[in-house]
Amino acid sequence: MTSPTALICETQAWKDLKGHVEDINKTHLRDLMSDAHRCESMMLEFEGLLLDYSRQRATVETMDKLLNLAKAAQLSEKISRMFNGEHINSTENRSVLHVALRAPKYAVIKADGKNVVPEVWNVLDKIEDFSEKIRSGSWVGATGKPLKDVIAIGIGGSFLGPLFVHTALQTDPEAAECAKGRQLRFLANIDPVDVARNISGLNPETTLVVVVSKTFTTAETMLNARTLRNWITTALGAPAVAKHMVAVSTNLALVEKFGIDPNNAFAFWDWVGGRYSVCSAVGVLPLSLQYGFSVVEKFLKGASSIDKHFQSTPFEKNIPVLLGLLSVWNVSFLGYPARVSMESNGKGVSIDGLPLLFETGEIDFGEPGTNGQHSFYQLIHQGRVIPCDFIGTVKSQQPVYLEGEVVSNHDELMSNFFAQPDALAYGKTPEQLQKENVSENLIPHKTFSGNRPSLSLLLPELSAYNVGQLLAIYEHRVAVQGFVWGINSFDQWGVELGKVLATQVRKQLHSSRTQGAAPEGFNYSTTTLLKRYLETSPEPKM
Ligand code: F6P
Repeated sequence: MTSPTALICETQAWKDLKGHVEDINKTHLRDLMSDAHRCESMMLEFEGLLLDYSRQRATVETMDKLLNLAKAAQLSEKISRMFNGEHINSTENRSVLHVALRAPKYAVIKADGKNVVPEVWNVLDKIEDFSEKIRSGSWVGATGKPLKDVIAIGIGGSFLGPLFVHTALQTDPEAAECAKGRQLRFLANIDPVDVARNISGLNPETTLVVVVSKTFTTAETMLNARTLRNWITTALGAPAVAKHMVAVSTNLALVEKFGIDPNNAFAFWDWVGGRYSVCSAVGVLPLSLQYGFSVVEKFLKGASSIDKHFQSTPFEKNIPVLLGLLSVWNVSFLGYPARVSMESNGKGVSIDGLPLLFETGEIDFGEPGTNGQHSFYQLIHQGRVIPCDFIGTVKSQQPVYLEGEVVSNHDELMSNFFAQPDALAYGKTPEQLQKENVSENLIPHKTFSGNRPSLSLLLPELSAYNVGQLLAIYEHRVAVQGFVWGINSFDQWGVELGKVLATQVRKQLHSSRTQGAAPEGFNYSTTTLLKRYLETSPEPKM
């Protein structure tokens, strides 16, 4: 057990794992994979979702040691504290309860002594009602036309989660059927080019704008919101805002100040972190407008199924826990710098403010399908070692089989899903190449060292339910890593400094443009760049 101020790296469990790295460095995945007993123990299934982590550079002993680390980090207690609504986001003095957003109506989940589930369902019921009105055409725009297109304005967590779900559902047959004749677009970036792209081909008369911002103060979102308000009022007059603009926020006072009717505002709460907000109105409203509430409810149920699994399954069979522990292993012990992660695990201090003596967080990248094979896979096969997650489905959302082809299109895709992990794990030796009569000078170039870890997640299909499961697995993985590292996965002070400096620049640009003031208080480089920008920019003088 760690005392509150000790770093996890001071525990015996951590030291055991450090010592164990030497054992693992003597192994190769080629050999580890030939141990069927080991591989069998590294596969598990939940509701048809299959996790195979046998291609991780880990043995049964490693897993035991990681489970010991979980104990030393008091992982079980920390998970319970999260579900019990304790203020585990201590630097912001908040509960972390995104799990309440998808809890069934009868559940009881308390924040500060109050059951939050009824409030959650009040908003969900309101979304169901509102989205039905829009979709059925009983709510019309200022000129009496149904609103068939939606632009959701938001950035960061108020954008990426909803975009992920929208991208996944767009081709799901059931969801696509429900979305017929409708469009959902997202406006995040402040570049005016993105405004132009978003409104291109849309008519304000048939467009509903949803402003999504937890704080309702984010500079980019608010300027984009004012820009689209201007687009609407220029075309339809000021009163049209009441029919064409709604909001999602925790700050309902600012929503009203902006000019959006509070009746058309959809609330969420400070116990929902921005990056964990897709299951709140942040995602549920735009997605319900596009696909109907019943489809989105399936997504919520999928996420909830993983919440239950995460909360109650023993760690050795617990998907998010295993994924989290393996990530800790890869980052902090094997020293691999990249994988898929979210912003808040990149920290330099523990939750108690102690400087960390190990790395946390990873660099996040990936690509759908085989796009990666034709771009960055060179790097992961013969360059840097980067643990990979391969996510595939048994059933395609849009199956295609062309007569005369060797396999269906989905089988073609999945051939890569099965092949790539083995290519990474086994590699190709000089001996194999010699047997293939590869010329000597090419052997070094065609050798693959292998021993590159990955894991495979095979889902039955990519239905709304499974998308919800996938989301929750990755959300909880982040939490598990943070709990073990002893950091706060739910705050994000690291994004603040840039915002403050941008405010200073914004003020300077305003005074330069309106009063001709020379840039002041910046370093040589920024001053030079600002001068160049101001002198040559075609922006209108204000
Ligand atoms: O700057 C990061 C961040 O605060 C994210 O956490 C958040 O999702 C995003 O900005 C947008 O914030 P908001 O929803 O308050 O507009």
